[in-house]
Amino acid sequence: MKRGCLVLTLAVSGLMMIGAEGTIAAGSLAGAPLVSEGISLELGHRDYMNYCAACHGAEAKGDGTLGEFLTLAVPDLTKLSKLNAGKFPEERVMEVIDGRVDVKVHGMRDMPVWGDWFNREAASSNTDKVARELIVNDRIASLINYLKSIQTK
Ligand code: HEC
Repeated sequence: MKRGCLVLTLAVSGLMMIGAEGTIAAGSLAGAPLVSEGISLELGHRDYMNYCAACHGAEAKGDGTLGEFLTLAVPDLTKLSKLNAGKFPEERVMEVIDGRVDVKVHGMRDMPVWGDWFNREAASSNTDKVARELIVNDRIASLINYLKSIQTK
């Protein structure tokens, strides 16, 4: 493993630890069954600040502090609609964030696979496969709603 890559891996896993603790503090106690919180802008914003802001920036302008350790440029997430002829590219964004299907197709990727990460988080409480999938989908849908709400004209 290249040195830069290792630094990034450590930084990201540190970030995830903070994110995980933040989630516990905000609601579910360790060991208690985690249920879906539904789809909301609030959840989207919270997950964004916990899991995305380090790379994409607090204002989603692509200026997070981890960006300099990455090989690929971190995109500005407020311009997704603008760069797509004014239409929010919902399906693509969903696939990129989830990542479970897309990784093999697109090859190189600097972005963590959030579908796997949210699924592991949900699995740490007593949830079955269906409940976990619901939690993962709702968190991704909430993130998408949040991203939609911050698009520049
Ligand atoms: C480790 C840094 C990092 C983190 C953390 C991160 N991203 Fe990314 N993201 C990237 C990079 C780099 C790209 C550019 C393409 C790639 O590497 O796959 C990207 C690409 C994207 C894209 C595609 C943009 C486009 O132009 O199509 C979306 C959407 C996105 N990220 C959303 C998120 C969300 C939502 C989160 C939090 C759940 C997140 N990212 C967390 C680094 C990161």
